[in-house]
Amino acid sequence: MYNVAVVGATGNVGRKILEILDERNFPIKNLYLYASKKSAGKELEFRGKKYAILETSVENIENKDLDFALFSAGGDTSLKFAPEFSKIGAVVIDNSSAWRMDPKVPLVVPEVNPEDVKWHNGIIANPNCSTIQAMPILKAIEDKYGLERVVYSTYQAVSGAGAAAISDLENGLKGEEPKKFPYPIAGNVLPHIDVFLDNGYTKEEMKMIEETRKILGLKDLRVTATTARVPVLNSHSESVNLELKNDFEINDILELLKNTEGVTLYDDKDNLIYPTPLKASGEDNIFVGRIRRDFSLDKGLNLWICADNIRKGAALNAVQIAEILIKK
Ligand code: A2P
Repeated sequence: MYNVAVVGATGNVGRKILEILDERNFPIKNLYLYASKKSAGKELEFRGKKYAILETSVENIENKDLDFALFSAGGDTSLKFAPEFSKIGAVVIDNSSAWRMDPKVPLVVPEVNPEDVKWHNGIIANPNCSTIQAMPILKAIEDKYGLERVVYSTYQAVSGAGAAAISDLENGLKGEEPKKFPYPIAGNVLPHIDVFLDNGYTKEEMKMIEETRKILGLKDLRVTATTARVPVLNSHSESVNLELKNDFEINDILELLKNTEGVTLYDDKDNLIYPTPLKASGEDNIFVGRIRRDFSLDKGLNLWICADNIRKGAALNAVQIAEILIKK
């Protein structure tokens, strides 16, 4: 049995982490819930018991014998407090982008690179939601055919941008002005996720590019990305265009993805079977379909991937990382 802290427990991902810890019967001895000062003293229920929320502070972790701290409270909170939690012996599994590209921090998708947890120094990073859902599929294809180039185009749900973003969609449908996004998200598509960088990409796009290379261990892989926010409540979709190193038969790709852990092959055009965000919501698996040759390339392949960004894209992936550690 383990002592577990959830930091950002009141947020979308934090609450989903609690749900998934319960669903998967994670062996918890003591549970501690942290959020910002404004939530301190409020209560959340877990396995029929009420827990008071603690402010995330150094004083509130003193004398706690923590095994795991699952963080989903934004990058600044992670930067400041992940080292404090790891100092007292907890393994931090962090959902923010704060530590992902740190060479001393493993970036893990359990179906893809579980062995990387071995070299952690107290912090393990959970990848970006849009990156996670492509990884098991790209890893299977890389291992069998080799990847030459990856082109991502995403259609991302508002739930990934937190409670304020969900309100913008819901209130926008009633005609209210947005508070979180710079333009209405209802009835719109915003090709802008996270901040713009000097190279013209958004930070979300660069996360997908850099994290893909780190997780697959392919530091020179050619990757590009365009990430867009769409008026969908939950689950991200992405069109993934691949150039492979070796030629392939579509039937072999279908067979490969049918047998890939964590992936549901959902592809039958004759019966209008293809992944959608509604289909993927609430599911642990990643859905892949619309699998077809890209005729504009010699060895080109098109895929359409949907996954629940709060579950597999965040909370579930984090809990699965903790499960690898307790199995060791
Ligand atoms: P709080 O509810 O007290 O603001 P979401 O992404 O769904 O908006 O959730 C963000 C999570 O991060 C919430 O649990 C939020 O707590 C928490 N959080 C935000 N700012 C801080 C902070 N400065 N210290 C600790 N937790 C924070």
